[in-house]
Amino acid sequence: MRFNFTPLSLAFCIFKGRFTLAAPAELETQGATTHHFTELSSVNISMMATTPMPKWLSDVTGLKEWPGADPPYIPLDFIDLKAIPNFPPRPAGTCPPDRSSCSFDCFKCISFDDAYTCPVLSQTFDDGPSASTPKLLAGLDHKTTFFTVGMNVVRYPEIYNQIKQNGHLLGCHTWSHKFLPGLTNEQIVAQLEWSIWAMNATGAHLPKWYRPPYGGVDDRVRQIARAFGMQAVLWDYDTFDWKMETSPPSKTASQIFNDVKHWKASGSTGLILEHDAYASTVDAGIEVSKILGTSQMTVAECVDSIDYIKTYD
Ligand SMILES: *[C@@H]1O[C@H](CO)[C@@H](O)[C@H](O)[C@H]1NC(C)=O
Ligand SMILES: *[C@@H]1O[C@H](CO)[C@@H](O)[C@H](O)[C@H]1NC(C)=O
Ligand SMILES: [Zn+2]
Repeated sequence: MRFNFTPLSLAFCIFKGRFTLAAPAELETQGATTHHFTELSSVNISMMATTPMPKWLSDVTGLKEWPGADPPYIPLDFIDLKAIPNFPPRPAGTCPPDRSSCSFDCFKCISFDDAYTCPVLSQTFDDGPSASTPKLLAGLDHKTTFFTVGMNVVRYPEIYNQIKQNGHLLGCHTWSHKFLPGLTNEQIVAQLEWSIWAMNATGAHLPKWYRPPYGGVDDRVRQIARAFGMQAVLWDYDTFDWKMETSPPSKTASQIFNDVKHWKASGSTGLILEHDAYASTVDAGIEVSKILGTSQMTVAECVDSIDYIKTYD
């Protein structure tokens, strides 16, 4: 897999004027749907809107303005958009007429290279880094997996590197937590390339694993992610921990612990979906970790594969 993200090739793309700089993004929250396999965004949107453009991001992209939640598509020479399957974009909460696109969010369809389970019940944490992440790091005594949102990586680079230094695996959760099947091919590329740049500029590595927000993935999204060498990671069990943050709360911590104890007692294996975006979900995550114990695996260990496409340190 070739990664020609050199400043030179970017400068070339920019020179050709093949992208337009989006106006400061109209930030929007994607609402929860009632579908069993969708997750609510627990990303702090108001936090993301105020992030200044860091110098390294200007250096990488040649852009001066913070792109907000809708980063511009920057063409990359290893991505051939004509080779992407032609399934039309579909908004969150809608499904294609048939199963041919292998949608996980609609049909729980899994593709050959998806990581969707684990030999040991293992936690995973989405939507960070956040101000609550360090507490989780202090409370865990095993390695786990964090799927980070690019805008939050830019906001909390030190916390990102703290996760890395604690030996955890870092995966990609897009730039701004969009429902990917609802986007154009160019927008999907942008969501992935910008989050990869943020992770690499911060942690000096290129992610191998990505978790599609809301489980929104189909063969069009997968094929674009494969061009970056990435594979989708899904999950077996959803704690719905974010429901502790709805008003009024629609889930309690003790309900989460009961669910986890039940999964454990039934001898289940697999990946558990949690979030490190809130103090409440972090506190729950620490407690869940105590219930499950330290034999947990990272996603890469679950599927006996590599942590990153490439590391630079
Ligand atoms: C990743 O960072 C390294 C230096 O740390 C750089 O050489 C490389 O071009 C970067 N790759 C991408 C895709 O950002
Ligand atoms: C979201 O971020 C804003 C601004 O930093 C902060 O005031 C607010 O408390 C945060 N909300 C949550 C739920 O973390
Ligand atoms: Zn998420």
